[in-house]
Amino acid sequence: MQTAVSIAKHLVPRTFVEGGDGAGSEVTTLKFPADFVWGTATASYQIEGAWDEGGRGLSIWDTFSRASCPDTGDVACDHFHRYQEDVKLMQSLGLKNYRFSISWPRIQPTGRGPANAEGVAFYHALIDCLLAHGITPLVTLYHWDLPQALETEHGGWLGREVVPAFEEYARLCFAAFGDRVKTWLTFNEPWCTCVLGYGTGEHAPGATSADGAKVYLSGHHCLLAHAAAVDVYRREFQPAQRGAIGITLNANWNEPLAHSDVAIAANHRDAAERMTLWALGWFADPIWKGDYPEEMRARCGPRLPSFTEEEKVLLKGSSDFLGLNHYSSDFVQDSGDGDFISHWGKPSKGGYFGDQHGTALTHPAWARTDMGWSVVPWGFEKLLLWCQRRYSPAGGIYVTENGCAVAEPTKEAAIKDDFRVAFLNGYVAAMHQAMEQGADVRGYFAWSFLDNFEWSLGYSKRFGIVRVDYDTQERTPKASARWLSSVVASNAVQL
Ligand code: NOJ
Repeated sequence: MQTAVSIAKHLVPRTFVEGGDGAGSEVTTLKFPADFVWGTATASYQIEGAWDEGGRGLSIWDTFSRASCPDTGDVACDHFHRYQEDVKLMQSLGLKNYRFSISWPRIQPTGRGPANAEGVAFYHALIDCLLAHGITPLVTLYHWDLPQALETEHGGWLGREVVPAFEEYARLCFAAFGDRVKTWLTFNEPWCTCVLGYGTGEHAPGATSADGAKVYLSGHHCLLAHAAAVDVYRREFQPAQRGAIGITLNANWNEPLAHSDVAIAANHRDAAERMTLWALGWFADPIWKGDYPEEMRARCGPRLPSFTEEEKVLLKGSSDFLGLNHYSSDFVQDSGDGDFISHWGKPSKGGYFGDQHGTALTHPAWARTDMGWSVVPWGFEKLLLWCQRRYSPAGGIYVTENGCAVAEPTKEAAIKDDFRVAFLNGYVAAMHQAMEQGADVRGYFAWSFLDNFEWSLGYSKRFGIVRVDYDTQERTPKASARWLSSVVASNAVQL
C-alpha cells in the first residue's frame, strides 16, 4: 500500500531525477481564487441503473456489457431511484457543484424523434433537487451511452447520420433544461469513444481498426457533432439562457525521456509532443485552431478525414472553455530509438501508437493506483501549462475529472482511503502550482462522487469518494469525502 509520504515524493521534483526525493517537511497552505469551482462528477450509465425503466431505450453499453464485460450497468448505484438521497449527501458534504451526464436513450429511446416524457421528467427532478439543495448542475450530453438503434442502423459514430441525430438530441436537452443548466459539455473524452470503441475494441461498441481508419473517422464525426450542437446552442439558446458550452478532453502528460545523446533526446521530445497531440490536439486543435494538427495530417494521410472550409469555421471557437480530464503520466521514447529503457518493464500501453511513433513507459519507482496508472502530480502541472500555452482558452480550463481507483475490499478499508486523500491533495497542489505559473484553471471536479461501474472492468475498480455497497446500496463517505469537504470550506489545500 502506498502512503501519503510515498506519493508526496512524486510532487517535487518537477522533472524526474533518478534517486531524487523531493519530500519536504514544512506545511504550506495553497489558497484558491474566491470564485474557484469545486465539485464531483459522475456519468449516467455508470450510476443510474434502471436500464429498462422510464421508457429508456437500449444503449451500446447495455449490449456491450452483456456480451463482453464482467458486469452490466443494469442496477449500478441505483441512482435513478436514489438521486434524492445522493443529492442530500452531497449537500451534507458541503459540495456546491455536480457534473453528471444525460443518458441519450432516456431522452430519445431510439436516438431520433420526440423526447420521451418520462426521461425528461427524471432529469427535471434531478436538476430541481440539486438546485433546491444549493448545488449547481453541470451537464455532459454524451458520456458514451449511444442509443443502440444508432449503432445498429448507422454504425454508430462511423455513420455521418449520427451527427444530425446528436444535434437534434442536444436541441431537446437545451430546450428542456437550459433554463436551469448554465454549463454544458457536449462530449466526454471523445478520445476514448474513438480509440477504445472503434480501435482496440475495449469499449462499446467493441469495433476494431488495425490501421486506425475507423478511429479517425469516428473522431471526425464526434467533432462535427460537437460543432453542430454548439452552433444550435449559440444561435437558438445562448442569447436568452446565457450559459456556457464546451467539451471535455482527456490526456496523460507525456514526459520525454532524457538522453545524453542530443539527437536521441530531441527524438524523445518530439515523440512526447506527438503523443500529446494525438490525445488532445486531435480534438482541441480543430476547436481552437480550426483544423487537425499538421503533424497528424502528415502522418495519417487519407485515413484522417478533412474538414470543409465551412466546417472549419463552425469548429473554430466552438468551446467557451476547455474541460480536461487527467489521471496519469508516462515517460515517452521515440519508438525508433531502441529498447535501452526496457529494464523498466513493458511499455505501459499497447495497441494504438503506430502513427505517433512513440512508446509510453512507466517508471518503476512511481506509485500506482488500482488501475495500474502512475501517480505523477507534477505531470498534471506540466499538462495544464501545455494546454494554457497552446490554446489559452478564453473561458479558462475546468478540470472536469481527476481521481484514482483504490483497492477497497471492505468498508473499513474504504473509509480510510489515505491513498486517495494523498493522491487528490497532491494533484490539487500541482494544479495550484500550474495556476501560479499562469494556467487559467477555474474549476476542479473529483472523479467520482460514488463508486460506480468502471466500464469494461465493472464494479471491481472503486473511484468514489463515497463508498457504495452494491448488495445493500448503502452509501458511506470515505476520508477523501471529508478531505474534499474541508477543501471546499477553506478553498485551500495544505502541501
Ligand atoms: C474517465 C471517464 O470519463 C470516466 O467515465 C471513467 O470512469 C474514468 N475516466 C476512470 O477511468
